Amino acid sequence: MSIARNLCLSLFSALMLAACSQPKQDGSAYEALMPMAETILLKEGVFALEESITIGFEGFSVEASESFIKVIGDQALAQGFAVVKEEAIKSDLSFSIEPNLEPEQYVLEIGTEGIDIKAGAASGAYFGWQTLRQILLLQEGQPNANVLRAAEISDKPAYEYRSVMLDVARHFFEPEVVKQLIDQLTLYKVNTLHLHLSDDQGWRIEIKKWPNLTAHGGLTEVGGTDGGYFTQEQYNDLVAYAKSRFIDVVPEIDLPGHTNAALSSYPELNCDGIAPELYTGIEVGFSTLCADKEITYTFLNDVFEELAAMTPGPYIHIGGDESHVTSEEDYVKLVDFALDKVRSLGKTPVGWDEIAHGAVDQTTVSQYWASQENTEKAYKKGAKLIISPAIHAYLDMKYDSLTPIGLKWAGYLSIDKAYDWSPDALVEGVSADQIIGTEALLWTETVATVSDIQYLMFPRVLGIAEIAWSKKEKRSLASYKARLESHLKLLDRLQIGYYKGLE
Ligand code: ACM
Repeated sequence: MSIARNLCLSLFSALMLAACSQPKQDGSAYEALMPMAETILLKEGVFALEESITIGFEGFSVEASESFIKVIGDQALAQGFAVVKEEAIKSDLSFSIEPNLEPEQYVLEIGTEGIDIKAGAASGAYFGWQTLRQILLLQEGQPNANVLRAAEISDKPAYEYRSVMLDVARHFFEPEVVKQLIDQLTLYKVNTLHLHLSDDQGWRIEIKKWPNLTAHGGLTEVGGTDGGYFTQEQYNDLVAYAKSRFIDVVPEIDLPGHTNAALSSYPELNCDGIAPELYTGIEVGFSTLCADKEITYTFLNDVFEELAAMTPGPYIHIGGDESHVTSEEDYVKLVDFALDKVRSLGKTPVGWDEIAHGAVDQTTVSQYWASQENTEKAYKKGAKLIISPAIHAYLDMKYDSLTPIGLKWAGYLSIDKAYDWSPDALVEGVSADQIIGTEALLWTETVATVSDIQYLMFPRVLGIAEIAWSKKEKRSLASYKARLESHLKLLDRLQIGYYKGLE
């Protein structure tokens, strides 16, 4: 029941009733949404939320609604609201599944009697809730902060793959840090978290058949500090945590280069049988798996089998970048083996754009990070594409020459440059339906702490999340910059650190 109605009912004289007026709300927060919504239609009237919100479900399985209510209940509570499940559909906030909508599409109707979120599937209902949650966060601290202007917001994503990558190999980050990042990204409708789990500097995921990968290969990180790794139990918990927020985790095992940590853990994986030292520097391109040894393929079989068993989502990333000391013939043999292995496990393989040299086809996703030529080769063979060029999407690039951490090999990456591009405009001749989405990437050579992560990620990740969600025709840099001002205040309220060069 709304505050307005409560107030009115409690008034007893006709005279006072005449004085009962609705709290005002102009709905300006709707214009500050990030990613911007497809259409917003303001209507007459308001709906005022009380601290306790009743919610109802239609078309959800009991299991789905239980998980949903737990997650959105936690998110609401963090904003000062308690949600209470109602059996009746006429609640303050009602979620329903409408089969004629696409899975991630939603319609958020704020009426004077309550709020309805209709979606094609639970994922869409969840993104509709993120929109509502963001409106409340944007209104926080303003007069009538819990009063919502009546409106109809219709929205759906431009791309199905809206991803952020975190490199936990160069520097390791504990599960709690990754969960916190998931909580931050979900507000911006990110639906994929790509974890770079192995590299020259560390192996970060327990593989039961090859325990030394983590016992030895996980010991250190860049700079020689202690490393770390996820046990399978921790990793499964992380994946479930992400899944309950409609985020799929894409695990990456990088091969055949970027494998020093594995080679250091098992001498038999090296062509000469000698294990190299653990590596704590930041050079690339010096390590390779040995294509001529049978044990290499046993290793890859075991690793991808255990990884697939921990991956409910559709994708597994096989790396494939910067294998500068692998011959072309060996590269193709090893990459093709990994691609086939991942496919045989019922997953879609993803690889960096160099994998175009191998047997990529329509069952493969090529991730454009550096080479347009490789990317053209991949899509001409029918591969799907993730468009995440280093010059726009690598959030480990410094903002400018004054930025204390980060790299600059792909150029400085200002807030404007991270936003002002479009995935379908970077590769000649590709058909739009071959592009599945984009990704903001954070490599961690210079990123050692949570505040380092936040400084490089925020606010640039908001821009890439918007590119992934909002249609190109609707976006503009001027609108983004205007809305960003509200979102910096929102990040402050959520105690999320960010680069303050804008101020
Ligand atoms: C990469 O940045 N080497 C994919």
